[in-house]
This record gives sequence, structure tokens and C-alpha cells, in this order.
Amino acid sequence: MANDHIDNTPGNRAAAREILTFYMEAGVDALVGEEPVDRFAPEAAAPALQPQAVATTPAEQAERPVSTIRTTLPPKNVPKAAPAVNAPPAPDVAVMAAREAAKSAGSLEELKAILGTFDGCGLKKSAKQLVFSDGNPQARVMFVGEAPGSDEDRAGVPFIGRSGKLLDLMMKAIGLDRTGAYIANIIPWRPPGNRTPTPQESQICLPFISRQIELADPDILVCLGGPSSQTLLGFTDGIRKTRGRFLAYNTGKREIRAIATFHPAYLLRSPLEKRLAWRDFLSIKQELAKPVSA
Ligand code: URA
Repeated sequence: MANDHIDNTPGNRAAAREILTFYMEAGVDALVGEEPVDRFAPEAAAPALQPQAVATTPAEQAERPVSTIRTTLPPKNVPKAAPAVNAPPAPDVAVMAAREAAKSAGSLEELKAILGTFDGCGLKKSAKQLVFSDGNPQARVMFVGEAPGSDEDRAGVPFIGRSGKLLDLMMKAIGLDRTGAYIANIIPWRPPGNRTPTPQESQICLPFISRQIELADPDILVCLGGPSSQTLLGFTDGIRKTRGRFLAYNTGKREIRAIATFHPAYLLRSPLEKRLAWRDFLSIKQELAKPVSA
């Protein structure tokens, strides 16, 4: 039996409960592996390395060919008893690798497969799985949020938690459902504890969501919330200033119409703002009623 070695005495069970409570209070709400990792274990526990293949200093990393981005090995010259921590690639190297990888995708399926093997964004390690998209990639309207939460992380589907349910209601109010809309996020992996993604994480993921928009080729892009509209539309002001105005967005293939509106999670916290969100959704409905641009 796999758990023969577990001491299942009442004292130990109480201690296990205590440590779990401690972890939960500290914000740990997800497991990232089946087995615990002893980061202080001596060298024997470290994976076999080929240090000659690794760039270590930031300068070396910057010069490292982007094709080696998946080789995330620890720095050389580590003291013998150092924890076996894998060094993430430098952010600029990861952004370049992301650009190359995203460009090479010829279809949404290929893009999803490439993202599944891309190791340049540290969030992949703590997330349960990739959350790529939902809805209809042929739809005329595409919604882009910020990053998946815990429900989405569990299911691998964007916007299925509380804010997703509100998004469904908002879409329904203008005659849309997920068969008539395509849905994705700037970041396709859940940030641990739902923390805000760092600017580097957003920049690393930007080439992928940009390519996803290009490949899906919607007529209308709807950015949900400040981070999505700042990352995709280049706004520097907050969402209260930038929402509700259509502007041109160049997908790389053609110019489409884009609009920013409140994120449904914000509307759950600030229901009075639903009035303004309703106006934005009516503008989206009107835009959809216009003839398709070439
Ligand atoms: N919030 C987001 O931005 N995206 C999701 O998929 C869920 C919640």
C-alpha cells in the first residue's frame, strides 16, 4: 500500500489538521504535486543536470537562444547543499520565446498545443492546467478577461465561476450565449491565490493572446476590466475612464472594433456600476448589428 508508512495515530492526525489549517490561513489553497518536495534536502534529491547547457547570469540568459527556453535548470556553481530550485528564464528571453512560439501557430488548436508545452511563464507550474478558451471561435465577438480563478483552473474553462455566471447573464441580455461568443484571458494559467498577474507575466502571455485574437478573427473585441484593456489596447488610464468607447484594434490581419468594459468580478463587488456596463453591452449589440467590415 502506498500509505503504509503513514503514522495514522490520533496525535499525528491532529498535527496534520493543524498544519493544514496553518497553510490555509497563509493562503495556500491548491496542491501543485502529489508528493511533498524537500527543498532543503541534500544534493542527492536534486535532478540530474547538464550545467554546460545552461546560461546563468542575466547577461548569459539574454544571449541564450530562445529555442532553449524550456531548459530551466538551476544556476551552475551552486553550493552542494543548495535547494534544487529551477531558475526561470529572464523575462525578456521569455517574451522573445513567446513571440516566436505564438507566431509559429497556424491555428487555434496549434496555439493551444504550443501553450501547453511553453515553459516561459512561471504561473504554469502552480496552475492545475491551461485555461485556453471557451465558446465559439467562429463567433463575431470575443471577450478577453484577465486570468482564470480557482473554478476555471479546476475545469480548464474560462469564466465558469461567479463572474462567469454574471458574464453569461450580461451576454444573454444582448442575445448572446457561448455559441455566439468566444472567450479567453490575457493569462491562461491561474495565478496562485488569485493574485494579480505581474506586468512581466502579462507581457510574456501577450503574444499568445494577440495571436489567439488574430486566429479567431472576431469583428468585435471586448476587453473585460482594466488589466485586459491596458494590456491589449494600451490604455494607461483606469477602466472608469476608458470603458464604453469603440476604437480600432489591429489584429495583424485586419482592423477590428474593440471596446473596454467593467470586469464582471468588479460588477459583483460594485453592483451600481452595472448601469454603465449595460450601456456598454448595448453598444456592443448595436455594433454587432452593423454590416461586417471587410
Ligand atoms: N476572471 C477572469 O478574468 N477570467 C476568468 O476566466 C475567470 C475570472
